[in-house]
Amino acid sequence: MAPTVLNLIGGKWTVSESGQTFGRNSPANATKTVGEFQLSTKDDIRRAIEAAGQAFWGWRNTPGPERGKILYRAADLIEKDLEDFATTMTIEEGKTLTESRSETRRGISILRFFAGQASRLKGRTYPSENQRTFIYTVREPLGVVAVMTPWNFPVAIPLWKIAPALASGNTVVFKPASLTPLNASKIVQALDQAGLPPGVLNFVTGPGSTIGQALAANEDVAAISFTGSYEIGRGIQKARADAERMARVQLEMGGKNPTVILPDAKLDSAVEIVTRAAFGLTGQACTATSRVIVHESIMEAFLDKLVSRVKNLKVGDGLQPGVEMGPAVDEVQLEKDLEYVRKGREEGAQIVTGGRRPEQPEMAKGHFIEPTIFNNVTTDMRIAQEEIFGPVLSVLSAKNLEDAIEVANNTVFGLSAGLCTTDLTSAHVFADKIQAGIVTINRSTVGAEPQIPFGGEKRSSTDTFREQGEEATDFYTRIKTVYTVY
Ligand code: UN1
Repeated sequence: MAPTVLNLIGGKWTVSESGQTFGRNSPANATKTVGEFQLSTKDDIRRAIEAAGQAFWGWRNTPGPERGKILYRAADLIEKDLEDFATTMTIEEGKTLTESRSETRRGISILRFFAGQASRLKGRTYPSENQRTFIYTVREPLGVVAVMTPWNFPVAIPLWKIAPALASGNTVVFKPASLTPLNASKIVQALDQAGLPPGVLNFVTGPGSTIGQALAANEDVAAISFTGSYEIGRGIQKARADAERMARVQLEMGGKNPTVILPDAKLDSAVEIVTRAAFGLTGQACTATSRVIVHESIMEAFLDKLVSRVKNLKVGDGLQPGVEMGPAVDEVQLEKDLEYVRKGREEGAQIVTGGRRPEQPEMAKGHFIEPTIFNNVTTDMRIAQEEIFGPVLSVLSAKNLEDAIEVANNTVFGLSAGLCTTDLTSAHVFADKIQAGIVTINRSTVGAEPQIPFGGEKRSSTDTFREQGEEATDFYTRIKTVYTVY
């Protein structure tokens, strides 16, 4: 039976004061209910912020290594339940079981990495201009941190915000995406069972337009970390600009990520890289490759291989073995994907494969779409400029590396960018000139390791603080400087 999930506020699992819930159905089979979740109000959010505020000093004063131990325990709990986490993710989000297992393992690594970071929150000592003067810095947590996350990585993204926030000594109010609240609640349960004191992590579900907005505007929130669309990210920044208190804001937003294929690339491996980067996770990653820019001399050879690979890509319910691409996350996303397919056609691009909903009757219950490739795309087309967030890949051609870089940079986004080449000089020139926070050479544009800083430039990111890696704790801490004369 589908569970009814409660909010966690001040250490108590509670119903919303609205008395109402909202449901979520599985994207692979819309007749299957995943669960019922609290339709929370601004008042619920206010209480969660208050609870986090009350818990702050106790948690801040808990030694870092002790905080780390709780995160290690949460990692062990998730690891013990890995299959259950992965199955829930596939049922609720739609990605394949292989993708869900790999994301869950990544979540566990994130927790362990930041559990260790809790013991490494270092300051520095400095030489003074004066004698008998000792100057040092310490890192202090900020206070109550708001974490707002998307549905496409329902375990990894919340954890890569919550874990460094908690490791650094902040308390958290977590508002997950309304399409994946069950996965979110499972992480919160693991952290709760691992022994977090009441109020250190609070969990409130409901619409971004009301409770997300209230969280963004609340002046007792010291920092906001958000991943999602550019439009919502901008709204959060505006809400903060209007508030008296200028909280820190970290926004990770869209992408229109290119992968460039040069004539010296290993073609078969380039085909695999692009297939994975464009159609893995159903194209629903802000790091997904949505433009492949191919040197004109190998266009035909590359495209032939790519199209025959993608035609054979197995689409279906991610719980079934052998399925390589699951459904769109919901009807709205499916409709958006199909709308871009129509736009691409109108703009004069040619579909070389896909573009429709699969015909098999068992697919009719879910939000499935075929992996789609458009050829003859030019930089002025909307399918080459706007983030679709689905399995729709645009193929553009370039005359040489310089031209390819120019085409690649012709976007408002700058998250990740890939290059397939065996030439060392081309690799370095590309890494130097490409406008992207993450560059991948002979590797998919998707897939970030927990110990490595992650973030973009241009409209992809606030560009101030990186997520993940040691750098992540820069966002969640401030530096205090102490001068002592003895
Ligand atoms: C990845 O490439 O594995 O929302 C991570 C997103 C990104 C995370 C991508 N912030 O898709």
